[in-house]
Amino acid sequence: MKIIEMQNDYINKIKEINKEGKYAVLTMGCQLNENDSEKIAGMLEKSGYSKTDDLKKANVIVFNTCCVRENAEDRLFGKLGEVKKYKEENGTIIAIGGCMMQEKHIVNKLKQSYPFVDIVFGPHTMQDFPKDLYEALIEKKKIEDILDIDGNIIEGMPIVRGDSIKASVAIMNGCNNFCTYCIVPYVRGRERSRNPQDIYNEVLDLAKKGYKEITLLGQNVNSYLVSERNKLESLKASNNITNIEIEDKPNINFNVIKENGEKIVVDSFAKLLRSINTIDGIERIRFISPHPKDFTDDVIDAIKDSDKVCNLIHLPLQSGSTSILKSMNRKYTKEQYLSLVDKIKAKIPNVQFSTDIIVGFPGETEEDFEDTLDVVNKVRYEQIFMFIYSRRVGTVADKMENQIEEKIKHERFNRLKKLAEEIIEEGNKKYIRKVEKVLVEGKSKTNDKLLTGRTETNKVVNFEGNDELIGKVIPLKIVSEHMWYLKGKYDNI
Ligand code: SAH
Ligand code: SF4
Ligand code: F3S
Repeated sequence: MKIIEMQNDYINKIKEINKEGKYAVLTMGCQLNENDSEKIAGMLEKSGYSKTDDLKKANVIVFNTCCVRENAEDRLFGKLGEVKKYKEENGTIIAIGGCMMQEKHIVNKLKQSYPFVDIVFGPHTMQDFPKDLYEALIEKKKIEDILDIDGNIIEGMPIVRGDSIKASVAIMNGCNNFCTYCIVPYVRGRERSRNPQDIYNEVLDLAKKGYKEITLLGQNVNSYLVSERNKLESLKASNNITNIEIEDKPNINFNVIKENGEKIVVDSFAKLLRSINTIDGIERIRFISPHPKDFTDDVIDAIKDSDKVCNLIHLPLQSGSTSILKSMNRKYTKEQYLSLVDKIKAKIPNVQFSTDIIVGFPGETEEDFEDTLDVVNKVRYEQIFMFIYSRRVGTVADKMENQIEEKIKHERFNRLKKLAEEIIEEGNKKYIRKVEKVLVEGKSKTNDKLLTGRTETNKVVNFEGNDELIGKVIPLKIVSEHMWYLKGKYDNI
């Protein structure tokens, strides 16, 4: 609680000097990054700032950066060029946070080439943002607030959510997997899980506020609480507990007390899913991302038994070639991935899959790439997020000698994209004339006469209907399919 008290002190200090200030937060990364942006917005609104989309009018601009691929850097530096003139004209405070700030070479580049930036802070120090902002405002000094060690999970942060129907809930932070292409374990640190009770209470609160869909977030959700359990096991096994180990003892309680007083044990991801499934008002539960190597039977059973857990599973493939998977340190083979898909399909009726794929990983041969196409052909995903391999400083794959030529990477990317589009188009046909349950999210962005929502499998459905349907799960008859959306009809079903 101490941290939140200190945060509040600075929030109150800012409030005294802030006169109707405006802020903008630019989210540049994944859903966890987005969830952090909601907390940054929470701290700013509590300090008396109100949101603006017009960067010219903002008194504080916060970039929440990502560094998972190179284009994220290009975007940041491009955008910084644009805001420089607002700084010069209006004295805007420019703050940069997020994963990229954990990279020393980037912070050095910022200091050298973008000296007008006021604050840099990392994901481990986000909770101290009000202190950084206050010092930048009052003392007009440049602030660098970055921690090399993993930050603790901070409960009780203010949060301003971007949506009123769907919300994301971070259940853990960090990653222990060290896939050889990936920067995330270096910038987010080791896996640490939130207490089940804190997650349960957050979802309960969202349900009471009228939220219908919850996405549980983590870099590897199905290893939720695994590190904590392992640490406790090894402490128990050790007769010789030193002070350091005691300090290191995870502050975790594997119980959840429900509203009716019932006590249940939650010591795994599967049990977390089951506990969230009992919360009234929540209609849909999603989670990203699970790792195929940790997709244990208890998780499959929990999905099967929990009616609110959606039947779309995001199962990152990365590559379909066993030798590339080995060199990526993914810890599964092509065959193991395919048999996991078959096992899930056999247990969960109508289950569908989405995935992430990287093309052009070092050493990827034509044959390896064809293995990826083969898995795509076999699994027939509902959605595929495709990435061209991007070298990340500090990762193992960056040092590999057999890097693939840009031309080949692009050519393979285009071939995969063509196949993915064919499969998605064909997959869309199965919805025609079917009745699908759709969570209505609001008006269509492209045509305000239409409402838009999503199926359990995350397909966008546009249809004509009354605004009162927004926020409800309704049956829609699918009448036509298009590449990126379906068309539905509400009446006559
Ligand atoms: N923890 C999640 C997501 C990690 S980042 C998971 O393991 O699935 C999201 C995606 O970005 C990854 O799944 C991967 O497909 C992609 N990615 C990560 N590092 C990359 C790199 N260096 N180049 C290209 N794509 C990358
Ligand atoms: Fe990166 Fe692999 Fe961890 Fe996902 S599981 S964040 S891809 S290291
Ligand atoms: Fe997410 Fe990018 Fe960080 S993918 S965890 S914001 S490096």
